[in-house]
Amino acid sequence: MKRKAQALASMEPIFENRGASIMGPRNIPLENENPDQLISPSTDAGTIPNLKFSFSAARNRLAEGGWAREITVRELPVAKTMAGVNMRLTPGGIREMHWHKEAEWGFMLAGRARITAIDPEGRNFIDDVGVGDLWNFPKGIPHSIQGLEEGCEFLLVFDDGHFSENETFLLSDWFVHTPKEVLAKNFGVSESAFAKVPKDVEHSRWIFAGNVPGPISKDAVKSPKGEIPVKYSYRLSSQKPIKVEGGEVRIVDSKNFPAATTIAAALVEINPGCIRELHWHPNEDEWQYFISGKGRMTVFASGGRARTFNYQGGDVGYVPFAMGHYVENIGDEPLRFLEVFRSSYFADISLNQWMALTPPELVQAHLNIDKQTLAALRKDKPVIASPKRKS
Ligand SMILES: [Fe+2]
Ligand SMILES: [Fe+2]
Repeated sequence: MKRKAQALASMEPIFENRGASIMGPRNIPLENENPDQLISPSTDAGTIPNLKFSFSAARNRLAEGGWAREITVRELPVAKTMAGVNMRLTPGGIREMHWHKEAEWGFMLAGRARITAIDPEGRNFIDDVGVGDLWNFPKGIPHSIQGLEEGCEFLLVFDDGHFSENETFLLSDWFVHTPKEVLAKNFGVSESAFAKVPKDVEHSRWIFAGNVPGPISKDAVKSPKGEIPVKYSYRLSSQKPIKVEGGEVRIVDSKNFPAATTIAAALVEINPGCIRELHWHPNEDEWQYFISGKGRMTVFASGGRARTFNYQGGDVGYVPFAMGHYVENIGDEPLRFLEVFRSSYFADISLNQWMALTPPELVQAHLNIDKQTLAALRKDKPVIASPKRKS
């Protein structure tokens, strides 16, 4: 902590007898956001690819009705398994009816939206989602999102890093690229019915302004085949959290949200000074979205390599498969973030628990730690560790 205090006071890359002041050009606001890059901990070593990209540094595509910016494998090349989109819709603003090759997992950050979909059996789905609610549209399933009275902003996660929000299958785009006589034949009407189909999809559709829809009971269409039996939305904020010493966690995967067959997640809240314990995931890469607070994460990549990154609200982090890591709250407010995985289930392995459930003589032989430290190990999973804890 002393190192950090010194760093913030002087903001020069100097620690004890290492480093020197910066003489050349510098971007001080960026350095302030990344103190563990400017003065990397002496435990960091070797080459590890970049594991951070902020939505604030992503191109924002503006439209009448809202905006969207994305972090894909193009922005964060290591993130091959998942991509993220941050989208805003004004009151009544419409994310055009569309589909894509990837599954879409959504998390509402602010405001409310109405979402719709249909499945291959001709069953339909409609729901209004608010802050903390999730949705999941399986790959290829057509859907729409529309802002309600207060408008909305949300995060989308896709189960392929190559996804792009600019390359989805749009309703209007298909109409523009189908001969009018074919459209007429397909719908059993005259060609003139399609005279007013918008031509400039790039600038007038994708996201566009609309009227706030009426009550859901009036807006919903009754399908002769009924509703989709597996609900595409989930109230994560109503789920009882797992309370631990240093914060709380909500885990959501196909066990409690059956529609999410390819994306699992944990919503984590870490109290100031506490850490999401040293752990790793035995199934998949981890894609992170920071909602609020300030944190740092060191990723241990084996072979003597480790690198530390800083994160705050609006940043995306990434942990390649099986790499060890912790996330520490280094700010003075709760650190809230999402851990997301391209998996049907959430799984992690606790370093602490592993050591506690292994013969102590064996553990001791590796690390030369004393009996007191061995006795402090936890047979249960701490999940979030608090420095105040006394064994
Ligand atoms: Fe979508
Ligand atoms: Fe993790």
